[in-house]
Amino acid sequence: MIDIHMHIIPGIDDGSQSMDESVSMVSMAYDSGVHHIVTTSHCYPGLYENYASQELSDKWDALVHRIETERIPVHLYKGMEIMAYDHLPDDLVSEKVWTINHTAYFLIEFEFDEKPEYCNEILDRCYERGFKPVIAHPERYYSVQDNPEIVYEWYRLGYGVQINKGSLLSRFGHKEKRAAESLLRHHLVHCVASDAHNTSSRSPSMSRLKRYLDEHFGKEYAYMLLNENPRRILEGRRLVGYEPLQYNKFSGRHER
Ligand SMILES: [Fe+2]
Repeated sequence: MIDIHMHIIPGIDDGSQSMDESVSMVSMAYDSGVHHIVTTSHCYPGLYENYASQELSDKWDALVHRIETERIPVHLYKGMEIMAYDHLPDDLVSEKVWTINHTAYFLIEFEFDEKPEYCNEILDRCYERGFKPVIAHPERYYSVQDNPEIVYEWYRLGYGVQINKGSLLSRFGHKEKRAAESLLRHHLVHCVASDAHNTSSRSPSMSRLKRYLDEHFGKEYAYMLLNENPRRILEGRRLVGYEPLQYNKFSGRHER
């Protein structure tokens, strides 16, 4: 499996707090069948100012070196979880932020209560400049919980959609789980990732998730979500999926 969302560079956000914790997280991911991980520390203006820099690259190199020293056969790739902000499109062009593995794909998140109009504006402007958004955990956004049709529009526009393991396994609450399952049923999800922050409450282990997806959505769909599309993101290739199902605009709230 390939996990495209993990907070694993130590000491720079609310994820791993030490190199030892990072090693434990990578080891736990490997034991559950994950062989490739994108390191997606928060880049969150005003909170976690982790923009592209030599210092950040050095921290990433140190993590890779330690994983090699520990002989854990997991490949790491650069990325960030970027909180949407006004100048993001320009900062993608000037390489002030990291895309995923140097491709056109970048992982973007929004405040949970962000207005859809602002999300659309930022996504459009990034896309116009040739970058491909992968939207992190839309099932956690209040606007999506109220109107999942928003994700149908994003999907149709060619944006990537990533939901969280924790939402499906009830880490965050009923609304997140309901929205995540609904999006999966409507074929509006490209990949599922751990969004791991530690080895306990938000862990990188994918064993339970894989069993859950195999059982509830079938092995073919699970493979697409955990292997095929994450691989395509790493390689900068077009994403694949089943024909997306539109929500019934008049009764969508009841269909979920
Ligand atoms: Fe995250």
